[in-house]
Amino acid sequence: MTANKKLLILPGDGIGPEVMREVRRLIDWMAHRRRVSFDVQDGLVGGAALDATGSPCPDGTVEKARAADAVLFGSVGGPKWDALPFEQRPELGILRLRKDLGLFANLRPAVVLDPLVNASSLKPDLVRGLDVMIVRESTGGIYFGEPRGIETGPDGKRRGVDTEVYTEDEIARVARVAFDLARSRRNHVTSVEKANVMQSGRLWRAVVSEVGKAEYPDVELQHMYADNCAMQLCARPKQFDVILGSNLFGDLLSDLAAALTGSIGMLPSATLGAVGPDGRRNALYEPVHGSAPDIAGKGVANPLAQVLSFAMLLRWSFGMEEDAKLIEDAIGRVLAGGMRTADIMQPGMARVGTGVMGEALLREL
Ligand code: NAI
Ligand code: MG
Repeated sequence: MTANKKLLILPGDGIGPEVMREVRRLIDWMAHRRRVSFDVQDGLVGGAALDATGSPCPDGTVEKARAADAVLFGSVGGPKWDALPFEQRPELGILRLRKDLGLFANLRPAVVLDPLVNASSLKPDLVRGLDVMIVRESTGGIYFGEPRGIETGPDGKRRGVDTEVYTEDEIARVARVAFDLARSRRNHVTSVEKANVMQSGRLWRAVVSEVGKAEYPDVELQHMYADNCAMQLCARPKQFDVILGSNLFGDLLSDLAAALTGSIGMLPSATLGAVGPDGRRNALYEPVHGSAPDIAGKGVANPLAQVLSFAMLLRWSFGMEEDAKLIEDAIGRVLAGGMRTADIMQPGMARVGTGVMGEALLREL
């Protein structure tokens, strides 16, 4: 039993609670059949928190998140709250959690499952067996650097300003996450920047090289310009193992990699903080997709991105590799059996809703 492991569940709004329901059924199944149970807590975030408390991320939720060993997050946002000022939008729920928990490394696996090889935007041969991990720095860089803003110059014309700033410590800590991951995979890191035209890119390349040489001499390190990496991801994606990039480049490249895998309804992610003196690390797991207001409440959302996020949580935060693998393999078999939610529907397959997909998964397990 692992009842000492603290898991905080934050379903959020939109399809979040619908897809999270399937994870809860999985947790029940694990308690009955695998004899593992967790100390599960629930919390409010996003639109659900806004409607109940007036804040998209109440202090109580942040406190629970800090106390948890891992957070499983659903999704937040939608047109229902469009009239609110920016500081009150549901999306601030996730932004505050990332910031307050110091979640600086965003991990997005881009994996092409065999049964979905035809759902990719690329030819099947190019993506069959694809398994790339993108590590994106997520608390620094151009989305946060000062100065920033739109200002009017002496000539009366407006100027938009953003600033990319990275310190060597910020680069080194996210680089270590990428190198550690590579060791558990195919031992290869491709670090991307624009060292040819950006000073922060020059420092990025230098620091990643230093960390690699000093601490990870066994991991193969390659540097690549970010624009070339975008091209290579389309042309020959299988050459990559772990791709490491800044907040901006990691954002762009992970969306590109997502298109290679077919559907947003299949993509999980993890965001990790620093390892503390007690060996603990804050970690939040969530699907890449948002709250999908267009299909919320209809029972048609694909729950697999949420389930795969839970599998990542089991693997990275709870050290439960065997259980993670069990879930991932069962998903592969359900898809091979021809069951499809609308987002991954293909000719000749059986179209099912959220609940039936979840049941099929349990049956397969
Ligand atoms: P979205 O990911 O919510 O939806 C994009 C499209 O994909 C929609 O057509 C949707 O129906 C479909 N889709 C998404 N997840 C699906 C699933 N599991 N199964 C089947 N189809 C799925 O992105 P969008 O429309 O740009 O944003 C909607 C809201 O979500 C916005 O308020 C946005 O700010 C928020 N958002 C929140 C995120 C988060 O909670 N971390 C991340 C991205 C967006
Ligand atoms: Mg993006």
